[in-house]
Amino acid sequence: MPSSKIAGIGFYVPEKVVTNNDLTKVMDTSDEWIQERTGIKERRYAVKHKESSTTMGTAAARIAIERAGITPEDVDFIIFATLSPDYYFPGCGVLMQRELGIPGIGALDIRNQCSGFVYGLSIADQFVKSGMYKNILLVGAEFHSAGLDFSTRGRNVTVIFGDGAGAVVIQPTEEEGKGILSTHLHADGSYAEKLAYINPGCHGGVHLGTEKYDYPDQEYGGAFLTEKMYKDEDLFPNMEGQAVFKMAVQKFPEVIMEALAQNNYEATDIDMLVPHQANLRISQFVQKRLGLRDDQVWNNIQKYGNTTAASIPIALCEAWEAGKVKEGDLVCLAAFGSGFTWGSALIRF
Ligand code: ACO
Repeated sequence: MPSSKIAGIGFYVPEKVVTNNDLTKVMDTSDEWIQERTGIKERRYAVKHKESSTTMGTAAARIAIERAGITPEDVDFIIFATLSPDYYFPGCGVLMQRELGIPGIGALDIRNQCSGFVYGLSIADQFVKSGMYKNILLVGAEFHSAGLDFSTRGRNVTVIFGDGAGAVVIQPTEEEGKGILSTHLHADGSYAEKLAYINPGCHGGVHLGTEKYDYPDQEYGGAFLTEKMYKDEDLFPNMEGQAVFKMAVQKFPEVIMEALAQNNYEATDIDMLVPHQANLRISQFVQKRLGLRDDQVWNNIQKYGNTTAASIPIALCEAWEAGKVKEGDLVCLAAFGSGFTWGSALIRF
């Protein structure tokens, strides 16, 4: 049975840079607060009417495809991870397929937020190992700035997130000991509302023990997006920051150690850890817990903020372009996010 490997990688971030000081013009926050709590200095925002999760994902995909030495026509399956899709449905997978001009192949959208890329990688790995596909295009892309609360009320969430996309092409390899060594996926839905973008949706309050949501109004046609939601300004992501922090610093090390143990490695064997760029403080905590040096962990949240499903492929691509991830290196990807979901992948490049 072949293993699977990352054969090509690319990323795209919009040109528009938004600094912490730019945000102070629309909400009560400060560069000092943001940097101290999150490490973020600036992020990128997509340009309205010109860019979307699909267009950014497609730009990243074209680079990954070229670097894999294939053409779009060689791609035989698409996996698209995002929490900020262009449409409620259909998903971005089919939209990107249209942009790339490759109709007919399967296109799967996955919704695992910050863990989306690692979940997608695991799916791609299984499909390639089983022999079903030979060139899977996996994309993580986010257009967060389209759905954030830019008033002071939303500042704890809004300052953290940025836009961008990353992509990889996954192919089979017969090289012994090379490629994706293992992937590990976890979730605990009891924390679902701790980090969530609840409306618009069709829940009608059932999980929240409340009937305050005035839908579905099935008799009269119904609507996901209701006037009450709009009036209550109940249309933004919410996060219990401290609960997220507490679980993240527990689950990141746990799932990294799980991957290492499965492959008989120790933390010191890692050449590069690429954690989901949730918050620099979380990454630093994980680094310390695992006893890793600065040159064993890649962080770029300072420049791009948290780009959710895109953050790992963007960071991995940057590290690879900088020559810090090389042939033969042991690379660990690790993610934690909304759901809560978390996961890891250990790769011999
Ligand atoms: N600017 C200025 N002040 C702010 C801001 C802001 N952007 N956001 C919140 N505050 C204020 C609060 O209103 C509060 O003020 P008060 O004391 O007058 O009530 C004060 O700062 C402290 O608020 P907390 O929410 O308790 O701040 P905390 O110290 O917990 O820091 C943070 C918030 C940075 C979100 C922290 O909880 C954290 O790092 N959590 C991890 C969450 C995370 O990293 N999420 C990333 C996305 S999820 C993922 O990718 C896994």
